[in-house]
Amino acid sequence: MIFHPIHHTFAPHVDAAYAWAALRLLFKPWKWQKGKETDELRAALTRHFQADSILFASGREALLALLQTMNVGKGDEVVIQSFTCLVVPNAIAASGATPIYADIDPETLNLTPETVERVISNRTKAVICQHTFGIPADTERLRDLCDQYELPIIEDCAHIIPDTEGPKEIGKYGDYLILSFGRDKAISGITGGALVIKNVACHGEPVEPSRGAILRRAQDDTYPFSHVRILRLLLYPILYFIARPFYSLGIGKILLWLAAKAGLLVPIVTKKEKEGQMDTTLHAIPNACAALALTQFRKLQQINDHRRMLTKFYLQACKDREWRVLDGITEDLPIQKFPLFPSPTESPLPAGEGQGERLASRIRTLLKRRNIHISDGWTGCTICPPSAEGMATSILSLPTHPTMSLVQAHTIIDTIAKCQR
Ligand SMILES: Cc1ncc(COP(=O)(O)O)c(C=O)c1O
Repeated sequence: MIFHPIHHTFAPHVDAAYAWAALRLLFKPWKWQKGKETDELRAALTRHFQADSILFASGREALLALLQTMNVGKGDEVVIQSFTCLVVPNAIAASGATPIYADIDPETLNLTPETVERVISNRTKAVICQHTFGIPADTERLRDLCDQYELPIIEDCAHIIPDTEGPKEIGKYGDYLILSFGRDKAISGITGGALVIKNVACHGEPVEPSRGAILRRAQDDTYPFSHVRILRLLLYPILYFIARPFYSLGIGKILLWLAAKAGLLVPIVTKKEKEGQMDTTLHAIPNACAALALTQFRKLQQINDHRRMLTKFYLQACKDREWRVLDGITEDLPIQKFPLFPSPTESPLPAGEGQGERLASRIRTLLKRRNIHISDGWTGCTICPPSAEGMATSILSLPTHPTMSLVQAHTIIDTIAKCQR
């Protein structure tokens, strides 16, 4: 067993500098709700995307605000992919509309124009195109399709924020971008989200100019999080930073368990959300979270380059072992989680239905015994169509976050190789 846990969810962005910044903010409660960092983050995003940016307390709230201002509601449909995070369909349902699931391309884990066209109806009001784990969707062709049906494209960039090296196609064809600054996202402010109004007009009509004004009003009308809630959010990086090195000794696990029991931690997805419900109240990003997200955004290139380095390593390691790699992954991508699908032909398990799924589950269990935790909300996270379902259950997602080292990446690959023997 290795001493330091390898993980996706134990505060993956939090290093000593992050924990220290959170600790300093803890003693400045006057900066928690409002402050200049929120304006600075908004301005930095606006400069980066050359487009109006609007902040909310999370990506899901940014999406709900957008749908509400687009007058999407009861009787309307919004197309999303079947392999997604449950908070996305929840936001659509909270707007009153119905999420319609299109299947994914098994080589990109994203929508394609073909899978989308199959589910478009005269009730469709928008298409949400997700760049799963940072693999770019074919937005150019999706744009053509959506122009044909006069539908706006919302690019879900929760998993990737492009930098000067790209991917250039992300943000080029969508009408709106949704960003998330959640705990394991492209960058993290513990919580937070943004809506970027691209107003691309690349093929069709420009996004209605008044929409920006309406969305800014929605942002101004948001409610602040209470001081208690912000305190709990700020405790997250600090508690995880302290507990993480002691996780394998059991002390870290107990500390986190006690913190959760005492209500000191804010869950990423609430019990109500797991049951398919989302609160429709929109909240402002806490300034303390905006401050943390801003620091990360200023280091975007560094964070993405680290992910690129690990993407390149995993790609080569898979090729050396003749493991299947998705066509959509190239070594220049800052992948948020590297998706690996263990090959059933190398399986030590008997052949039969669900062999890939059983093999992946066995590997995940064996990894966990060695203090490598690669299950997350995405394992088994699928809603309907068959190819997405098969992929979601047989996926092994390998970490690429800022606190994941190359040595740990070697360990994970070697351990998976051993598990397959
Ligand atoms: C693909 C995707 N879109 C949107 C979201 C929503 O982001 P947030 O957690 O900030 O609400 C998430 C994550 O939760 C996600 O994984």
